[in-house]
Amino acid sequence: INLNVSATGGNASSPLTYGLMFEDINHSGDGGIYAELIQNRAFQGSLEYPSTLTPWVSVGDAVLTLQNTSVPLSNSLPTSINVASNSTNGTIGLLNPGWWGIDVKPQKYTGSFWALGSYKGKFTVKLQSDLTEEVFASLDIPSSATPGKWVEHKFELEPRIAAPNINNTFVLEFDCKAGSLNFNLISLFPPTYNNRPNGNRPDLMEALKDLGGSFFRIPGGNNIEGDVYHYPWLWNETIGPLTERPGRPGTWGYQNTDGLGLVEYLNWCTDLSVTPILAVWDGMYLGNEADHILTASELEPWVQYALDELEFILGPSHSTHGALRTQLGHPEPWELKYVEIGNEDDLYDNGPETYSAYRFSMFYEAISAAYPDLIIVSSTGDYTAVGGTNTSNPSATDYHTYTRPDYFVSQFGHFDTVSRQHRSLIGEYACIQGNVYNQVVGVDWDAPKLPWTLWVGSVSEAIFSLGAERNSDTIIGMSYAPGFQNLNSYEWAPDLIAFTADPSQTIKSTSHHVIELLSNNRYNATVPVTSDSDFGPAYWVAGVSEPGHYTFKTAIYNSTSTVPFSISFEGLSEGVKGTLSVLSAPDGLSSNTLENGVVSDVVRKNVTTLAAGSGGVFEFELDNYDVAVLTT
Ligand code: AHR
Repeated sequence: INLNVSATGGNASSPLTYGLMFEDINHSGDGGIYAELIQNRAFQGSLEYPSTLTPWVSVGDAVLTLQNTSVPLSNSLPTSINVASNSTNGTIGLLNPGWWGIDVKPQKYTGSFWALGSYKGKFTVKLQSDLTEEVFASLDIPSSATPGKWVEHKFELEPRIAAPNINNTFVLEFDCKAGSLNFNLISLFPPTYNNRPNGNRPDLMEALKDLGGSFFRIPGGNNIEGDVYHYPWLWNETIGPLTERPGRPGTWGYQNTDGLGLVEYLNWCTDLSVTPILAVWDGMYLGNEADHILTASELEPWVQYALDELEFILGPSHSTHGALRTQLGHPEPWELKYVEIGNEDDLYDNGPETYSAYRFSMFYEAISAAYPDLIIVSSTGDYTAVGGTNTSNPSATDYHTYTRPDYFVSQFGHFDTVSRQHRSLIGEYACIQGNVYNQVVGVDWDAPKLPWTLWVGSVSEAIFSLGAERNSDTIIGMSYAPGFQNLNSYEWAPDLIAFTADPSQTIKSTSHHVIELLSNNRYNATVPVTSDSDFGPAYWVAGVSEPGHYTFKTAIYNSTSTVPFSISFEGLSEGVKGTLSVLSAPDGLSSNTLENGVVSDVVRKNVTTLAAGSGGVFEFELDNYDVAVLTT
């Protein structure tokens, strides 16, 4: 393949070309990146997921019961655990196995619990092996428990050695002579990313940071919408002290604690230097109820609710919600430039009709009047509902695509033909099923999805991404979804990063490797490439950061032989050095997996230095399913 790359003549690249998408699915938040180690710490429940004792276990002859005491810990956390004994000797208590294990290391664990009752003795908190009962850390805490009043007890545990595995539990014990005590909000955090209180797991944050993303789409996905019982994600119930967060039934089959809330998401943006793309709920619930879409008059308070959220994020300290932000320790507004109205409003019975009839425009008009600089993104994936009545706004839409390798490759040119007046956020994309022999077909939602990303799928995603990069004037950026998968409990595979409670078992998928390579090799503007060959089996894009500094990206799909490249970059002469980074895997069906507790990573990265030959031409060869970046 002979290619000539021009020095100028393309389009400026979006500074957000690659980003992250996050929602609580697959226990990616609770039991995932949110570092809380105690599962079901506050017995939060709902109609959909009633309060439960799971996974708490009694210690000694303790009897554990859920109680709604006459004095609740708070209106938000009305249910507590009662620990009672009939004995007069020994200790009783309760034990929590964490989120399918607890990683015990010689580091500081910060804990707390609230107690209600009459007890003048001591509590003992421990981290111990579930298999051998070996105690790795233990601490006595004098009780301040008082009848009729909830009292918080804080502590730190510091094991001297690491546990050999994650089969560990957190134990809270006391003298059975206390008779009966109630506990709530029993919490334990390991060190967190950037030492944030109520923060995130460092290893998972590092895995995200490696991607070099520039934006963060939150808080859904379907999880913003809520399921049949009408529980959308409520920003104001995810802020402030944990005692004031009731939690909600998440969309993905479990109660969300909402410990990971709006402020935590925005701090996360700060910590990873990414800009938020904030979705607001727009009146569509999931589920099949006839009334799952709000009427215009029902929607009005929700428009105000979204404005209140924006004031919380962007408003001055003297505004009502800006003052609330200040009171929570954030006097300065956060940065926010993008707001998405809903999620996938092109789906479901009356979704598209009501969206274009009134739902989008009600939010659009109110938000753009209050915040004219915000870029408002529609969620329909096409342009039919974009722009509201004010088409001068630089509108955009969120395009989602879950498909198969061949289909992804066929979509390389998708953005060649879209409107140049609007931009697309590719807020969710992933190759989730294998090819169908001899057919270029999309996904079959009734058929199983892949358990792990396949290399051929990751290569096809790369080709789709290169197609989007080539049309940089039409895109905001792209984010793979879903981001995380707790291998002990999940609803959706494949995912970008899979994990267990053991940080040594964090698996970066084959797609993670591809995004890491493409995202960390940005350029300021695309540049035209002329060629003696059509796209296929090689697909490419070229860009320039500053004169002489080119980035050429390519991926090979379905080649029966090695593909030789001969590339001349305008203005480069013989001897100029370039760096060629090539990702490869043993074959297209290779996956990164966890087998018998061991992570297998099949992706290889080969980095070589090349020198331009006569006429400033770079020459190299790539194999089938290689993804490569050449920088000069
Ligand atoms: O990423 C999983 C789900 O796929 C998202 O929640 C939803 O937006 C899409 O349908």
